[in-house]
Amino acid sequence: MKRKLMILVTVLFTVAGAAMLSLDLPIIRSSAQTQTQDVQKMPEVIILAKDSRLGQVTFNHVSHNSGKYTIDGTTKIACTECHHTAQPAADLADMPPLKTAWPADRTTVLTDELFKKDPKAAGVAACRDCHARAGATPKLLPAIPEIKHEASTAIIRLVNQQAFHRSCDGCHIEVRQQNPQSKAPSATSCVTCHKRTA
Ligand code: HEC
Ligand code: HEC
Ligand code: HEC
Ligand code: HEC
Repeated sequence: MKRKLMILVTVLFTVAGAAMLSLDLPIIRSSAQTQTQDVQKMPEVIILAKDSRLGQVTFNHVSHNSGKYTIDGTTKIACTECHHTAQPAADLADMPPLKTAWPADRTTVLTDELFKKDPKAAGVAACRDCHARAGATPKLLPAIPEIKHEASTAIIRLVNQQAFHRSCDGCHIEVRQQNPQSKAPSATSCVTCHKRTA
């Protein structure tokens, strides 16, 4: 009985899909085009590390920024926890090594409300636009960002690998310390994040 229903549903979707393809495609395509050109969207699930030999990383953006995932069980993770340049430079004064705002003269802090009101003014840049892969020149900066090592004089070049690992693992380590049952990936188990596609 269930199986028959499933087949029926599949057939219906296929028919509907075919109808859309034959009739509406030009209309759908043109409106999608104008939308992606004009409005930056809030991504739900992002595939990162597409060119990593270890395999890609599926990152659920909405689970991380909607309040579903929390560090302490109650507080929603702030957008700026990850999008660290999306706040005024003055606010970064007491968060070393962070100091760079983008755009440099911004006066707003990225929040869900700000983004919904005016995605353009919210000023969200992709991490890789600054934290480029080794050997590449970043789109928004003259060079790949560097910071001083916390415990020595060493300089850390924040290519994509360093930037993402520090940001993602930094939080997951804290989460796992507070809650050993947490689903947060382990920093030392690479395959909890990197998955090879078949
Ligand atoms: C846990 C980390 C994290 C949090 C919290 C977070 N984001 Fe993101 N966000 C990311 C990552 C990683 C990307 C992908 C960036 C890339 O492609 O380099 C991204 C991408 C985006 C993009 C698309 C940027 C583009 O490339 O066009 C938007 C818009 C965005 N986030 C908005 C928000 C808003 C608004 C909030 C707060 C409600 C938020 N994010 C909270 C990590 C986060
Ligand atoms: C506009 C350029 C720019 C963008 C976009 C950007 N960063 Fe950065 N990032 C920097 C710079 C520059 C530094 C060095 C510190 C500073 O000047 O603020 C840095 C530092 C860092 C650090 C080191 C902080 C520490 O305490 O270890 C991490 C981690 C990081 N970025 C992760 C990310 C992630 C993840 C994203 C995307 C969600 C991102 N960055 C987006 C420019 C950028
Ligand atoms: C500020 C804290 C924080 C940051 C930053 C963060 N995470 Fe998480 N992450 C969490 C928490 C909390 C959980 C969920 C724990 C639970 O529900 O048990 C989680 C769970 C996950 C999971 C397992 C569950 C799932 O959604 O598949 C993956 C994979 C993951 N994070 C990837 C990432 C990646 C990749 C980044 C960096 C781009 C990142 N996270 C940055 C806090 C964070
Ligand atoms: C929290 C999830 C997570 C864990 C755990 C993790 N990574 Fe990653 N890794 C990422 C993300 C996200 C990126 C950056 C992706 C991007 O630039 O799109 C990345 C990038 C990389 C890159 C650079 C890929 C490239 O060529 O641009 C390498 C290499 C890498 N990781 C190796 C490792 C190794 C080795 C481990 C285990 C010790 C590990 N990763 C654990 C999430 C993770």
